[in-house]
Amino acid sequence: MIPVCSPLLKGNEKRYVLDALNTNWISSSGKYINLFEKAFANFCGVKYGITTTSGTTALHLALVALGIKKGDEVIIPNFTMISCATAICYTGAKPVFVDVDKETWNIDPKEIEKKITKRTKAIMVVHMYGNPCDMKEIKKISKKYNLKIIEDSAESHGAEYKGKKCGTLGNIACFSFFANKIITTGEGGMVVTNNKKLAEKCRYFKNMCFKIKGKRDFIHNDVGFNYKLSNLHSAIGLAQTEKADDYVKRRIKNHNLYKQFLKDVEGITFQEDKPHTQNLYWMNAIVIDKKKFGMNRNKLIKTLKLKGIDTRLLFTGMNNQPSLKSYGCACNGKYPVTDWLTKNGLYLPSGSGLKRLEIKYICNVIKDCLTKVKAKE
Ligand SMILES: Cc1ncc(COP(=O)(O)O)c(C=O)c1O
Repeated sequence: MIPVCSPLLKGNEKRYVLDALNTNWISSSGKYINLFEKAFANFCGVKYGITTTSGTTALHLALVALGIKKGDEVIIPNFTMISCATAICYTGAKPVFVDVDKETWNIDPKEIEKKITKRTKAIMVVHMYGNPCDMKEIKKISKKYNLKIIEDSAESHGAEYKGKKCGTLGNIACFSFFANKIITTGEGGMVVTNNKKLAEKCRYFKNMCFKIKGKRDFIHNDVGFNYKLSNLHSAIGLAQTEKADDYVKRRIKNHNLYKQFLKDVEGITFQEDKPHTQNLYWMNAIVIDKKKFGMNRNKLIKTLKLKGIDTRLLFTGMNNQPSLKSYGCACNGKYPVTDWLTKNGLYLPSGSGLKRLEIKYICNVIKDCLTKVKAKE
């Protein structure tokens, strides 16, 4: 089976993990934590990096650092991973959903203002599949209403908007290092920011609100969390960050091959790039138009599976999540673009280690479907 996305661990991962083991530093102290935070912050072009246990906990920490609390509302794209919404629920605040743009599949700036109320405190943007959001428009809105911007960069390590990396475009940003991400630590995450106060708050809250300065007693003035990443995970993260530029190039190359091999196939839509952005195509997602392609999405998935090609469905909208309905989110609006993506979209294999021949094979199987459909007509 060609997997959808498997990690590439061909750098210093083993050497650094063995060093952590051999020196007995395996939990949340040890040199690799600091080295990884510095290296990744440097890769993004940002001052501070704070490791966490996942992208989800990074989002929670960022929201807490910004002071988001019960009674507040935070705007998010309706088409995203559930983590965006759940992290907001952890604070007691409410996620408010905005549909995405039909071309970029990112939060639609034209729809944001309609959802702003007196309670809105922040906009959480998601650079979907590595495609940077329209930050100029989003910043305009955030200035007009005095809203904070949280970037969920879980899928956009190394993507760029107007020459600046995702993760440097708002007040605070969060990355995931889950095994399918461009840089992985197995499980893990990081908050990055240029704001010293926010960085200090993240460090404080991620470590159970142990006092940062002064005597290390067991007096805690706030309710904190244990979101500390281990030295072992950070050792992998450092090795991965050393290879980050190479992984980004590979993802871009893979995407260009998919586009080239599928260019004459009718009924397949890719996410669109906009000027001044560098998408890094974390996932090669496509949307199938059954009428033009001649086969629906589910049938294509089955056909690909029979030929040894793994795929995944795209996200289900936040408005269709029973958990968020029970939490009290407003779920009754219309989200046509999300519905279209959920119903007709799939990910093709996209890992950094994918070979040209594998991509050609996948595209030939897709083209074969079309030929068979045409032959039946
Ligand atoms: C957009 C987005 N946000 C947040 C997350 C959560 O990251 P994690 O799985 O590390 O908690 C993911 C993970 O896939 C994601 O794709």
